[in-house]
Amino acid sequence: MLRVVYANVLAERVGDENGIRAREWRDAMAAHGGLCKTLRAQRQAGQLAFMDLPNDQATPAAIEAFAGRVQGRFRHVVQIGIGGSALGASALYTALGCPMSCRAGRTGGGAAKRPGPLPPCLHVLDNVDPEETRALLATIDPRETLFHVVTKSGETVETIATFLVCLQALRDRVGRDWKSHLVFSTDPEKGFLRRLARKEKIEAFAIPPGVGGRFSVLSPAGLVPAALAGIDIRRLLAGADRMESVCSRTRAEDNPAFVAALIHYLLDTKRGKTMAVFMPYARSLRDIADWFVQLWAESLGKRLSLADKVVHAGQTPIRALGATDQHSVVQLFAEGPNNKMFVFVEVERFRGDVEIPPLFPDDETTGFLGNQTLGRLLNAEKRGTEVALTDAGRPSYTLRLSTISPETVGELLYFLEVQTAFAGMLYGVNAFDQPGVEAGKKAAFALLGRKGYGDLRRTIERRFGEGGRHVVD
Ligand code: PA5
Repeated sequence: MLRVVYANVLAERVGDENGIRAREWRDAMAAHGGLCKTLRAQRQAGQLAFMDLPNDQATPAAIEAFAGRVQGRFRHVVQIGIGGSALGASALYTALGCPMSCRAGRTGGGAAKRPGPLPPCLHVLDNVDPEETRALLATIDPRETLFHVVTKSGETVETIATFLVCLQALRDRVGRDWKSHLVFSTDPEKGFLRRLARKEKIEAFAIPPGVGGRFSVLSPAGLVPAALAGIDIRRLLAGADRMESVCSRTRAEDNPAFVAALIHYLLDTKRGKTMAVFMPYARSLRDIADWFVQLWAESLGKRLSLADKVVHAGQTPIRALGATDQHSVVQLFAEGPNNKMFVFVEVERFRGDVEIPPLFPDDETTGFLGNQTLGRLLNAEKRGTEVALTDAGRPSYTLRLSTISPETVGELLYFLEVQTAFAGMLYGVNAFDQPGVEAGKKAAFALLGRKGYGDLRRTIERRFGEGGRHVVD
């Protein structure tokens, strides 16, 4: 179960200039409370398709059937995708997949208990880095590998380029059976990948057209690799479904996604906390931090408001990991510019704890550690950092998970998605588009000589050439 604990964002804790004042909070709640109803109305009008994913019964059934058919056949699954088509898969696998559970000899935490061989390892190729791609293809045997190619548009250049490289490797090493080493998740109708799936009769799942890439973790983009990696996707969706009813509450103060969105919005726009540090205290949640960074940045970072005014909205998300980063960036967080707020993710009960043996009970500096556990120490470190930051006038709140399980991860991901949708409304921007990414994509096409981009290429060469005078050797 997920709980939002937010006393440390209040002015009475961090001071008037850094925290939300009681009256301001009451007024903001009253002014924006109607957004909970707006969200519901938008959803009923079919504008928030990601919110309906936990209720879809047919897709998880089809995914489980596919995972069952290929069970035991592959040692590796390679997910090829980028942005929302990759980050959700990594987040689920790191939190619930084999590296954290079965391979350490446990199956109770996240991975479904399955008889037979261990589920395959998941590798995510979300870059066109030649060294990384070469190294992976040299390490895994394509004959033992299933490639899951994910692109909602079906045409993203990085994804398609990596797919072509992997397809060649498959044809070379597997021969005629190459098609059975492929599965796609893409638009149900459009795009290169869908056309190829139809032509070659390759298994392909549909990402619903109304679900944006960064909101697609509970669609086949995330569910296919999760199921292949042995994660119980029904439990994941059950957690999201529970959060769906919690985040649909129309009383603003009872709706945790709304409360959290409002905290970010007020601290950013009224107290200058222009950055949000997302800091889980559990290594297995680190890729959820990466996933959140994309969700928050791409959804809210907008030049134009919904009313077409130039607003340059958005709060910069930063990923950190407790306790590791206490010895890296926390010095800056505590004493550097006071322009950040903090979101801690805390786990009450770890899937397995480790006792610290009382080897030097009489030693003054280390004796107190004996008979504690690493889990207790990690949570005390989180509490210590929280107290120190609060004392230094730095606001924070905590997302507290009872444990790490498919249900709680489903709750957390869904909560963060709805929170982002609410934040979009508060900032008055479209949280579901990404116009700022388009210009860079077009420039890359032009530089690679794509047909129809000749003029842009000449413009780039004329205006943005490196020039000899501004280079240092
Ligand atoms: O959130 C988004 O829409 C983006 O990050 C996309 O996921 C990313 O650009 C990849 O797009 P596609 O899935 O169409 O390949």
